[in-house]
Amino acid sequence: MGHEEFSFETRLLHNRHKMDAQTGAVSVPIQHASTFHQFEIDSFGKYDYARSLNPTREALEDIIAELEGGVRGFAFSSGMAAISTAFLLLSSGDHVIVTEDVYGGTYRMVTQVLTRFGIEHTFVDMTDFDQVKQAIKPNTKAFYVETPSNPLLKVTDIKAISLLAKSIGALTFVDNTFLTPALQRPLEIGADIVLHSATKFLSGHSDVVAGLAVVKDEELAKQLYFLQNSFGAVLGVQDAWLVMRGLKTLQVRLEQSQRAALEIARFLESHPAIEKVYYPALENHPQKELQEAQASGAGAVLSFELADEDAMRTFVSNVKIPVFAVSLGAVESILSYPAKMSHAAMPQEEREKRGIKNSLLRLSVGLENPADLIKDFSQALEKLQVNNYVLSQGE
Ligand SMILES: Cc1ncc(COP(=O)(O)O)c(C=O)c1O
Repeated sequence: MGHEEFSFETRLLHNRHKMDAQTGAVSVPIQHASTFHQFEIDSFGKYDYARSLNPTREALEDIIAELEGGVRGFAFSSGMAAISTAFLLLSSGDHVIVTEDVYGGTYRMVTQVLTRFGIEHTFVDMTDFDQVKQAIKPNTKAFYVETPSNPLLKVTDIKAISLLAKSIGALTFVDNTFLTPALQRPLEIGADIVLHSATKFLSGHSDVVAGLAVVKDEELAKQLYFLQNSFGAVLGVQDAWLVMRGLKTLQVRLEQSQRAALEIARFLESHPAIEKVYYPALENHPQKELQEAQASGAGAVLSFELADEDAMRTFVSNVKIPVFAVSLGAVESILSYPAKMSHAAMPQEEREKRGIKNSLLRLSVGLENPADLIKDFSQALEKLQVNNYVLSQGE
């Protein structure tokens, strides 16, 4: 039985790096060497210099390639380094169509950096296929998809976008940070490049910043390798090891957090102080069916709106369990304020156009008992007054 026949959770542990061939060590050795002795003058060994290739980073690159169903993986010093390096596949004069409520750092890269190099962009609501088609220009070379999107959890049809991209000879990039290959494998349904902030669920413990990219085509792999080595934003070996350590428990972490996320989403949805809940597994999510068709779960991130900014502030000040912080995808629940955190790089006007209100919070559900989280949120919500109705029994 080859590794490829194992189910996903087994492959997280039993892949070709499950033990060191030389020693039998059941943890990938951390190879700190920045350079490697060459035994021949004219023909170098597989490893010559660690920016170009390093065995520890290579192990992580192999593992993520296998998990995403690609031919080659690449590890970078952050999610943004992975995304920025992938954008270097484009050239001056090219045009990219981008999901409208994309992660704020990607928005900043597209609007303030790529533009200086003559790479144009159009933001569209990718849930509206007609809008996507209308945005196509003769120089469109890539579609940049984030699904579910950050922070409004909109779901884009990866297959439809990939087919459209192919029909005009363009590439499809998918940021798979929110779901990971445990729940969604974009390369298997048509995408060309999968990108990750491995800082999030893949590593899972809020202790490493890392990025990954995977491609399914050998030619594209060569091009991305050339860019990784040229740009040089590679992942350090200690961090590569931390990501590999985190990956081993990805499936159990995500499944548990996902179950809790649905319970919490349902609780919030039924609470009178909550205006709206965004979570693709809820019955009223407009792309629930699509989410079920292209992924095996809705993930562990949800967003919700309170009545106004004051209510949001009161809630955040009273909530006790989650950390109030940038980031997501960790063992501890993380409550974030997109307007000031993930989407601070997006001007208020642009945020408003996209529906990212100042009363919106994003919750990444961790591994706490969901009953404790619900209890905590209930007491924080009791401090609010909604529609002149005093929820707190004490007042
Ligand atoms: C969806 C998404 N993509 C990319 C990134 C960027 O990753 P990093 O912070 O590791 O550079 C983030 C970070 O929050 C993210 O949420």
